[in-house]
Amino acid sequence: MSTRSQPWRLSVAPMMDWTDRHCRYFHRLISRHTRLYTEMVTTGALMHGDLLRHLDFDAAEQPLALQLGGSEPDDLARSARLARQWGYQEINLNCGCPSERVQRGAFGACLMAEPALVRDSVKAMRDVLGSDLTVTVKHRIGIDRVERYEFVRDFVGTVAEGGCDVFIVHARNAWLQGLSPKENRELPPLRHELVHTLKQEFPQLTVVVNGGITTGAQITEQLARVDGVMVGREAYHHPCLMADWDARFWGDGIAPEVDDDWRMDLEQRMLAYIERMHALQGTPWSHITRHLLGLWNGQPGARRWRQVWSNHRLKLMPAREVARLAHAARLAHAADGDPMARDPITVEAALS
Ligand SMILES: Cc1cc2nc3c(=O)[nH]c(=O)nc-3n(C[C@H](O)[C@H](O)[C@H](O)COP(=O)(O)O)c2cc1C
Repeated sequence: MSTRSQPWRLSVAPMMDWTDRHCRYFHRLISRHTRLYTEMVTTGALMHGDLLRHLDFDAAEQPLALQLGGSEPDDLARSARLARQWGYQEINLNCGCPSERVQRGAFGACLMAEPALVRDSVKAMRDVLGSDLTVTVKHRIGIDRVERYEFVRDFVGTVAEGGCDVFIVHARNAWLQGLSPKENRELPPLRHELVHTLKQEFPQLTVVVNGGITTGAQITEQLARVDGVMVGREAYHHPCLMADWDARFWGDGIAPEVDDDWRMDLEQRMLAYIERMHALQGTPWSHITRHLLGLWNGQPGARRWRQVWSNHRLKLMPAREVARLAHAARLAHAADGDPMARDPITVEAALS
């Protein structure tokens, strides 16, 4: 089967406050085929909020999935209708977020304790959407101290009855008491083997593994056992990781050499986007460049480059000018290796 007929083969995880439209546009420039997800949007926000802010995206971001947070089948069905109107290709229901705010709303990871409700929610969305777009579920392998495989197996089995056939599994438990969402992405141990077992038990379902995957070699290893891999933090912090994904995992083209020219070209394309978003919506460049800060990671002068882009005193300066300063700082550092040399003078001079 062609890899491109496997839409869930590789994706970047939904990440609140991180995978906004600007971040996704940047990721899309690096990989044409990798599936992208929005941050979680609650049904409440869609029923009462600013739709443009929550749902608008650039057509270039496709293939794109909207992640919903909610547990009322009717609200989810109404949100699903909106997602179709806006042109999303998938709706993903969040059954993995452990935050207290989400628990108060009785959705996210605590939905794993209510598989029948998730099944009914999926069905309500499917009834509205027919075969127009796919409904998928992202969940954990368990909640609190429930470590039994049967728990996640029964969850998947029940939810599949509602018409969900794609399951994205963050391979650790969610501890609903006493851990912050951040700790909940580190502390409960990863158990990828449970996700492999799910795939064996439900060969007809598409099973995607998520959690702690950081290298191309690990992706290859996982793809031998499951249908897809979702990468979160590593893709965000080290976006160059994605440079060879189209060639390596989607069978498209030849992997680029990740050198200075490649990074500069990417940056130029982002500058064009920054200028377009500023002209269209008045978006400050800093809302976009905060997602780019990992671009030069590991290269000489990367820290100086990041510091210029993070310098709030430069906020009113045009982005191209800031880009010029950032590179001057990077090259000055790279040339003489002295982290304190020249760059502050360059920035100060620009500000004076
Ligand atoms: C800053 C941040 C925000 C996140 N927000 C969401 C979210 O909105 N919805 C969701 O399903 N998971 C969310 N997650 C969890 C990720 O989607 C992913 O499951 C988790 O980071 C594990 O994958 P990783 O080890 O590859 O990062 C978030 C993770 C991070 C780091």
